[in-house]
Amino acid sequence: MLGRLRNSYAEIDLGALERNFLNLKGLLKNCSMVPMIKADAYGHGDVQVARVCERLGARFLGVALVEEGIRLRLAGVQTPILVFCQFDSMGAEAIVKYRLTPVLSVLDQIKKLKSVLHETASYPVHVKFNTGMQRLGFEPEEASRVATEFQKEAYLKLEGVCTHFAAAEDDGDMTKDQLKIFNQVMSDIRKINQNSMLFHYLNSAGLLSGLQPQLDLARPGISLYGALPKLKKDSPVLLQPVMSVKSFIGFIHRVRKGARVSYGGTFQASKDSVIAVVPMGYADGLPRVLSNKGTVLVRGTSCPIVGIVCMDYFMIDVTELADQNHGPLVGDEVVIIGQQNDKIILADHLAKIANTVSYEILTGMQARLPRIYIH
Ligand SMILES: Cc1ncc(COP(=O)(O)O)c(C=O)c1O
Repeated sequence: MLGRLRNSYAEIDLGALERNFLNLKGLLKNCSMVPMIKADAYGHGDVQVARVCERLGARFLGVALVEEGIRLRLAGVQTPILVFCQFDSMGAEAIVKYRLTPVLSVLDQIKKLKSVLHETASYPVHVKFNTGMQRLGFEPEEASRVATEFQKEAYLKLEGVCTHFAAAEDDGDMTKDQLKIFNQVMSDIRKINQNSMLFHYLNSAGLLSGLQPQLDLARPGISLYGALPKLKKDSPVLLQPVMSVKSFIGFIHRVRKGARVSYGGTFQASKDSVIAVVPMGYADGLPRVLSNKGTVLVRGTSCPIVGIVCMDYFMIDVTELADQNHGPLVGDEVVIIGQQNDKIILADHLAKIANTVSYEILTGMQARLPRIYIH
C-alpha cells in the first residue's frame, strides 16, 4: 500500500529473474547455483528474489552479512544460506540460531562458533582462501593447517572451500595465478580430508567467460539481475534486466531563452524551452553526477537531464517533444532505467556516465524508492 503512494518506483520483473536464473543454470555442468542476494539482492529485494531462487532449486543463497541471513530466515526462507562476512561472538550466536552457514577466513572464528554450539552434531561451515584478491580468506599456505583443525573438530564439519576472483573476465596472469594457487589449496586440503566437500569460486564474470573447471558451486550475482560484469566476449546466454526505474512528469515550466535551471543555475536555456520536473532525486539513488549529463525516456524519446539533480527532484528538457506537438503532459511516464517503446536505458549506461559500475547503480537505489513486483 505504502509503495503505491509514491509514483516513482523500481519495477522488479521476477519473470526476467527466473529466466536469467534458468539461463545461467543451463551453463552449469555438475555444478549448482548459489545466487548472490547480498545487499538486498543487489537492490532488487532479498526476500522476493530468495523465494524465486528457492523455488527454482538454488543449492545455497549467498549473503554478505549475518543480518541479511536473518532477514531471509525470518521471512521463512529454508535454503542453506552462505554468509561471507567475518563475525564476533554475537554474530556466531546469531549464525547458529538462524542456521546460517558461515564462510570462515580466520581460525579464531572456529572458537567463537564452538562456544555457542549446543549440539554435538557437526555444524557445516565453509572456508575461504585469499588467492590474490587480498580481501578475505586464509592464506594459501595455511591450507593444510586449516584442514587439520577441522579433522579435530567433532562439532564442525568442513562442508566447502572457496575463493573469489579479482578479474575473472580475463584469463590473464592474475586469474591464472589465482587458479594455480587454488588448485594447490584444494590438493593440500584433500590430502588431509577426503570427505566429500564443495569447492567453489565462479562469479558472473567467471561463469560467463567459460572459466574451467566450474567446480561444485557457482555464485553469480550481477548476471542474475540481467546486468553484465566486465566481459571480453559477448555473454553466451540471454540476460534480461530485472530492475526498471520509473517516475513521471510532476510539473511543466515553459521558460524563456536564458532561463537557468536548478541549484547554481548550471544549465541555461539556449532558446525558449519546456522544462519538466521529475519527482525523484539523489536521495532515491539517482546519482548526482548525472546532472547535465544523463538522459531519460519520455514518450519513447531521449530527454536530457538539465541542471543539478536535487535530493527529491530532477529536471529534464522536453522542448523537442513539445515542438513535435504531442505532449508532454503532467503524469507522463519517465523511464530512468528500462525500456520505453523501442528505446532502452540500462543500468550500465548510467554507470558509464557516472564513471562507476552497474553494481553501484543498482544497489544504490534506496529503500525510499518503492519496489513494485511484476511477473
Ligand atoms: C564472495 C562473492 N562471490 C560472488 C559474488 C558475485 O559476483 P558477481 O556479482 O560479479 O557475479 C560476489 C560479489 O561481489 C562475492 O563477493
